[in-house]
Amino acid sequence: MSSDATPQQAYRAQVASSLADPRAFWEQAARDIDWIHRPREVLDDADAPFYRWFPDGTLNVCYNALDRHVVHGRADQTALVHDSPVTGTVRSWTYAELLDLVARFAGVLRDLGVGRGDRVVVYLPMVPEAVITMLACARIGAVHSVVFGGFAPAELAARIEDARPTVVVSASCGIEPTRVVPYKPMLDEAIARSSHQPEHCVILQREQLTCELGERDLDWASLMHPDAVAPAACVPVRATDPLYVLYTSGTTGRPKGIVRDSGGYAVALRWSMTHLYGVRPGETWLCGSDVGWVVGHSYIVYAPLLTGATTILFEGKPVGTPDAGAYWRMIAQHRAVAAFTAPTAIRAIKKQDPHAELVPAHDLSSLRALFLAGERLDPDTWRWASDHLGVPVVDNWWQTETGWPIAINPVGPDGALLDIRPGSPGPATVGYDVRVLDERGEEVPAGTEGAICLRLPLPPGTLPTLWQDDERYVSSYLSAYDGYYLSGDGGYVDEDGYVYVMGRTDDVLNVAGHRLSTGALEEALAGHPAVAECAVIGVADDLKGQVPRALVVLKSGIDPDEAGEARLRQELVDRVRAEVGPVASLRQVDVVDALPKTRSGKILRRTMRQIADGDTPMVPSTIEDVAVLDGLRPVLRG
Ligand code: COA
Ligand code: AMP
Repeated sequence: MSSDATPQQAYRAQVASSLADPRAFWEQAARDIDWIHRPREVLDDADAPFYRWFPDGTLNVCYNALDRHVVHGRADQTALVHDSPVTGTVRSWTYAELLDLVARFAGVLRDLGVGRGDRVVVYLPMVPEAVITMLACARIGAVHSVVFGGFAPAELAARIEDARPTVVVSASCGIEPTRVVPYKPMLDEAIARSSHQPEHCVILQREQLTCELGERDLDWASLMHPDAVAPAACVPVRATDPLYVLYTSGTTGRPKGIVRDSGGYAVALRWSMTHLYGVRPGETWLCGSDVGWVVGHSYIVYAPLLTGATTILFEGKPVGTPDAGAYWRMIAQHRAVAAFTAPTAIRAIKKQDPHAELVPAHDLSSLRALFLAGERLDPDTWRWASDHLGVPVVDNWWQTETGWPIAINPVGPDGALLDIRPGSPGPATVGYDVRVLDERGEEVPAGTEGAICLRLPLPPGTLPTLWQDDERYVSSYLSAYDGYYLSGDGGYVDEDGYVYVMGRTDDVLNVAGHRLSTGALEEALAGHPAVAECAVIGVADDLKGQVPRALVVLKSGIDPDEAGEARLRQELVDRVRAEVGPVASLRQVDVVDALPKTRSGKILRRTMRQIADGDTPMVPSTIEDVAVLDGLRPVLRG
């Protein structure tokens, strides 16, 4: 590429070279990471479809996120800001201060017997201790597994059961705008439900609600007293060693443990922060997700700290804490250069402040771009944010599995690099070879919808496998089309390579940017003694993108009157809240006579969803009894 290439041409060339010669591209990117042993081999494909990036490299991710910045002159720069309107506090830590806390907590974990490769489950609200714990694990080579606070004990138990942690780190409570959520009873119940028993639980006592500590419980503050613990040094790990396991929802009730390696992830995230999100060392960035989700792992914790930037950890909501100007207030107060949230958060803000009257109350002159991800960015929301913020509003498409964007329009110092096309997150970025395939595995022409797939190998930072389950990794993602990763999303690519993601082709729900499993909700409903069978579908919702709706068939002989049925419906709503968590947001349950199925017994969820959304679906020819579906139409449309 000639030196007078435009930034657009240079980026397009980078994307092309990353596919033509991935080894050369990622070898270059890996230079921004401090290695203990610099990898000589970039990609090991001997065991395809199991690919390994930087197989002979060793490093420590915590060293790269903290120590090296302290060594290279950023000791006094703010690393982390905890902005917590729900507790009325804003606190910050420099890189040197955060390093001290992380090294001490790493010492605590070490003294509790946590070693390299051992798991630590983290069930914490949006408090700095969550970041400290994650980095402390990385420091000693332990594998963290963070569980989102909005999940109920059964979901936490499933993750404890699978990850088999030595230690669980949790808190006395979380704080939602309308209530204090006691975490400790949920943790105790989860451990009681699990066949695996952690050796210790470290509990952060919060002043809003303290809890009693049991035999295996230890108090965070006492353990962290400088006299009680010696700081731990960084342990060298292989680039291919797991940094974390993050569970995500598939279609069944059993969550999938997405494994993240250490070296590939560090390289990809460091590259993405500057080259895609346009954030440079020393700058401040706001990511309004939760550390329990992949966006929080990658862009609250790892990417900004690997970059030497300042990251804001927000314990609040986009609306109601105290108002729909919370993001704008934080951007102004902390001089953030870019912000990242989910479209649903913007829809919530727009609903409360339709004319964006709270925007001019804050000085947003530092802001260069707003990034949105987690669900489809509808053009109305995009337009509203673009009009009122006056900066590029950039959609980006990715998944827990990939760890960083697949398709995005990168932002440089002069704004978005490529044309923004509302409805599309942009073209595939470096390392991702996106193809749209039909049922026979043939590539479809530009503009035609199909299954969005990624040609193997996936770039660094993406999942190498599922936690201790290579077989499920292959059957879930790699077996549909030989040589491709199946994203689970449907959509198309236009003539210019812009990807359009139209929604899941499986039964995974996306509620307010939160990924939920139909299977988990259905299992909770099916556990009710009156339920013979049930189906959950995700229907379109103006605020949350989708909300779940349940249809249940009662056991024969159970025929409640109107009041009895209302009681039963409430019991089912309560059951899902108790078993899956409040985040499931199930409000509507309908009792029906039968569910529409194919002749082989598969429930036609997608057809029902399309009817509920007001579309006219093609009814599959394999339907067992079309009268059942016709009978349901008024209920679904109601
Ligand atoms: N701990 C305990 N409960 C939680 C929780 C947590 N960490 N997070 C959410 N909940 C509860 C909420 O209090 C709510 O309970 P309620 O039914 O008693 O009101 C329920 O789970 C649903 O929460 P939520 O989906 O957040 O809906 P909401 O109506 O409270 O708020 C939004 C709507 C749009 C403001 C909110 O969903 C939001 O901020 N979304 C951004 C999503 C996001 O960042 N996603 C990450 C991907 S990028
Ligand atoms: P999660 O693994 O929780 O990040 O959810 C990933 C899923 O969310 C994807 O498979 C998509 O269905 C959806 N998703 C995330 N980002 C986008 C986006 N920018 N556009 C459309 N869908 C998205």
